[in-house]
Amino acid sequence: MKETLEQIRQAALAALAQAGDAQALDAVRVKYLGKKGELTGLLKQMGKLSAEERPVIGQLANQVREEITQAVEQRGEALEHAALEARLAEETLDVTIPGRRPELGHQHPMSIVLDELKEIFVGMGFQIAEGPEVELADYNFTKLNTEEGHPAREWSDTFYIKEDSSLLLRTQTSPMQVRTMEQQPLPIRVVAPGRVYRKDEVDATHSPMFHQIEGLVVDKGITMADLKGTLNAALKALYGPETVTRFRPHHFPFTEPSCEVDVQCHACGGKGCRVCKGEGWIEVLGAGMVHPKVLQGVGIDTDVYSGWAFGMGVERLVMRRFGITDLRLIFENDTRFLSQF
Ligand code: PHE
Repeated sequence: MKETLEQIRQAALAALAQAGDAQALDAVRVKYLGKKGELTGLLKQMGKLSAEERPVIGQLANQVREEITQAVEQRGEALEHAALEARLAEETLDVTIPGRRPELGHQHPMSIVLDELKEIFVGMGFQIAEGPEVELADYNFTKLNTEEGHPAREWSDTFYIKEDSSLLLRTQTSPMQVRTMEQQPLPIRVVAPGRVYRKDEVDATHSPMFHQIEGLVVDKGITMADLKGTLNAALKALYGPETVTRFRPHHFPFTEPSCEVDVQCHACGGKGCRVCKGEGWIEVLGAGMVHPKVLQGVGIDTDVYSGWAFGMGVERLVMRRFGITDLRLIFENDTRFLSQF
């Protein structure tokens, strides 16, 4: 029996050294120390021994059990330790690597100027309105006193969406005049910024898509003096307090009288230079008193109410504000350009 015990001891220790994971280790434990294990089986046969042998073998058996038990524990700890090491090695994180700096965006120069424009007009009591870029020809032209056959409706200038010329990409923000008058109660003070589209060749100052901001005031007793006062205030807010303006007669189908407004060239002070192309003045917007036909078209009583409107291009403002010489840069979304603002 002594030899058997010794065999069990050696076999158990060898098996433990081989056990590669917790499962294998447990199998070894059960095999040697379990209720039906080899050691237990042997101890059950103790009764067959003589009275002298029994305590000796008993002690030895206890020793062997103790030794195997300890070896199981040690192997268990070793395996756990190894597993932890392996996991740590696998999940190594080098906290000394410099982090990736999150890139913080900022407003596009176009948005900066649009926001500024809105702020100026909101400060004067205007509301902001927005409308569709895909527009009915009715709103873009007809209701603006621009009947069929008018040269402004030419296919060569307009992106039509339907063959019958009833739907198009709006060529101006002026349809917002009609939409606002149809939807809002009087009096009205709104500005409507947004994109407009024309079949223009692309160059440093032209793009088939550009931005306008429309303004509309309709109330009792509104005159050209209100138009001049408001636009002068707005242009001074935009171009600086020293800004000199000029109101020049012009024609638009939907205003009467109509005018174009120029600001004196900031670069030459009106003498004429490259910036103003020798003119001394730079055209900034179109405006006028809303044509009675347009007001009557939306059911406004022209004996009681009158109004004025303006439409201003925004790209030119952005270019001047930031010293941009090529309009295309504003839309190319090259971050090397945009990151400067
Ligand atoms: N819609 C005109 C344009 O695009 C500008 C304008 C707006 C003129 C409002 C008068 C009144 O040129």
